[in-house]
Amino acid sequence: MSDALGQKDSYTQAHARRVAAYAERLAQRMGLPNDQVRQIALGGMLHDVGKLALSDRIFSSKQTALSEDLLDEVHSHPLIGAALLRNISCDNAIVEVVLYHHERLDGSGYPFGLGADEIPFNALLVSVADCFDAITTDRPYQRRKSRAHAFSIMNQMAGPALPRDMVALMIEEVRTHGMESNMSAPPPLPRAANG
Ligand SMILES: [Fe+2]
Repeated sequence: MSDALGQKDSYTQAHARRVAAYAERLAQRMGLPNDQVRQIALGGMLHDVGKLALSDRIFSSKQTALSEDLLDEVHSHPLIGAALLRNISCDNAIVEVVLYHHERLDGSGYPFGLGADEIPFNALLVSVADCFDAITTDRPYQRRKSRAHAFSIMNQMAGPALPRDMVALMIEEVRTHGMESNMSAPPPLPRAANG
């Protein structure tokens, strides 16, 4: 699924790999059991899998602000991803990460606007990794921030949007072991010669 997403948008696939790695590192730093670390890593890898169903206009857009229609479509990707994974009987702990990774503690997230105690722990952890990678990598509409600037943005999100303890440990982890490489996109899948 992740490779299929890479055929549509190589940034999203490389992002998924980095988010999986950051989320796994954060889960290990938090001392979570191995089974849970694995669920979190897989949830990180698959968190944006619902973007498979988004129109190509979204991936090619270089606009900072998408039209309302396209924004609604983007906001549906957690629901689409969760439905895709439920169809193949994926572990519910992984489905929850995909479904809730854009929820925020203050209720400002999507697709449900859940409150702090309604968002599953694993989804919050992957959100921390997701935000950090989004801030520190180039996107078509946004240049990456320096590590110090990224830490300051993450510290502003700690409390209202993301759990303070997870953000503090994410920053500590990156200070200790560094950032994931931005060059982690795998080679393209083989294509048939005659289409
Ligand atoms: Fe997402």
